[in-house]
Amino acid sequence: MTDSITFPADFLWGGATAANQIEGAYNEGGKGLSIQDVMPQGITTPRTDGPTDDNLKQVAIDFYHRYAEDIALFAEMGFKTFRFSIAWSRIFPLGDEAEPNEEGLAFYERVLDECEKHGIEPLVTISHYETPLHLTDTYDGWVNRELIGFYERYARVLFARYGARVKYWLTFNEINSVLHAPLLSGGINTPKGQLTKTDLYQAVHNELVASALATKAARELAPNAQVGCMILAMPVYPLSPSPDDMMASLTTERTNLAFGDIHVRGEYPGYYLRSLRDQGVDLVITDDDRAVLKENTVDFVSFSYYVSVAETADDSQRVMGEGNIFPGVRNPTLKASEWGWQIDPVGLRIVLNQFWDRWQKPLFIVENGLGAKDELVEVDGRKTVIDDYRIAYLNDHLVQVGEALTDGVDVMGFTPWGCIDLVSASTAQMSKRYGFIYVDRNDDGSGTLDRYKKKSFDWYAEVIESNGASL
Ligand code: BG6
Repeated sequence: MTDSITFPADFLWGGATAANQIEGAYNEGGKGLSIQDVMPQGITTPRTDGPTDDNLKQVAIDFYHRYAEDIALFAEMGFKTFRFSIAWSRIFPLGDEAEPNEEGLAFYERVLDECEKHGIEPLVTISHYETPLHLTDTYDGWVNRELIGFYERYARVLFARYGARVKYWLTFNEINSVLHAPLLSGGINTPKGQLTKTDLYQAVHNELVASALATKAARELAPNAQVGCMILAMPVYPLSPSPDDMMASLTTERTNLAFGDIHVRGEYPGYYLRSLRDQGVDLVITDDDRAVLKENTVDFVSFSYYVSVAETADDSQRVMGEGNIFPGVRNPTLKASEWGWQIDPVGLRIVLNQFWDRWQKPLFIVENGLGAKDELVEVDGRKTVIDDYRIAYLNDHLVQVGEALTDGVDVMGFTPWGCIDLVSASTAQMSKRYGFIYVDRNDDGSGTLDRYKKKSFDWYAEVIESNGASL
């Protein structure tokens, strides 16, 4: 890293997780079922009717029982913040009840106690791919407007209970992914192939209104809280310098940028309305919806960043690659991870500059990282993983964050994904590991669940300790 790059003194270094991927205890503490209980293979196969034993998320990494040990390890790395989600079905087991489940509320109180004990600032996602299953089966998830009220009630319970203790809140994880993974992201039961465009975009609208209503509730119930949106960021490069490819890449990129535009500006941009018209989509948008969106814009923009993609207007050139939740055209200039996700550290600097130029809101990188197969080895009598590939990936990306800071971008913090190994969202594997901490659990469910520090554990501790100077 060049000498001129410095991270702000209050930069929020930490790590990120989601309830369904770490907690386990899927039927303990009064928890209801969520969509994750019928998605044993992630998004690779259709949902099942009910829970099945092959679902690794039933136990996950048992964070529900081991949270104190895990948070202590995060503290040992020097975390300033810890991103976790609240499982909606722990608080409202069905999703449409009038009263919350006290046992669920008490669990997250204990998690917050541990964070406080170690001086770790919680960063809470209200909804991270874990819609209560009852809302999916009975209402078809976010297609149904009634979900807005259920979500608002849930968010109000969280702000009333934890609002004095939690400063940073995210309303929906990767809200734009609903366009590509309707069940995972929108709790929508209708299979993607049968879902009408109107129902899909109505679900998007309902989530956006719910996000704004949650922001409004936070202002009333937790005046010190800051609420952010969370977008799956994926820069789209033209495959060639032709104007047609540039226009095609802009059009594809806008399918993601629209979500930030609406959260930050409080209204639908013209290009988005045109796209709805072109697709023959006619939405129900009330005057109240418009007012709620306009009056309750976000305090900051958070995003995940793993891959960039290319785009072209020439169908014969559209060679698809893998991506986070949804694929894009392969960029021939980039290498990829074992799962085919193309690695592009400079893309992170591009995203940070683009978002800052566009919205002038503080930016929070709440997911980034390399999913890789790790091998547990013994070094000096201690079990560990020599994960130089993960260190290189994160180091390269953080150098680009440093460049963006030098460019003048306001970056609040960095919480790499899966700071402790967890169950993958897309493939539901344990072997796709992101963590600084190895968890002894295998794809067939075997393993002791013991935790081991990887080489990257010490590397990240030093990055945090030196506030980025060691990069
Ligand atoms: C993001 C999600 O899409 O990417 C996480 O917010 C997910 O839940 C992460 O785990 C990495 O994806 P995967 O499929 O490798 O787990």
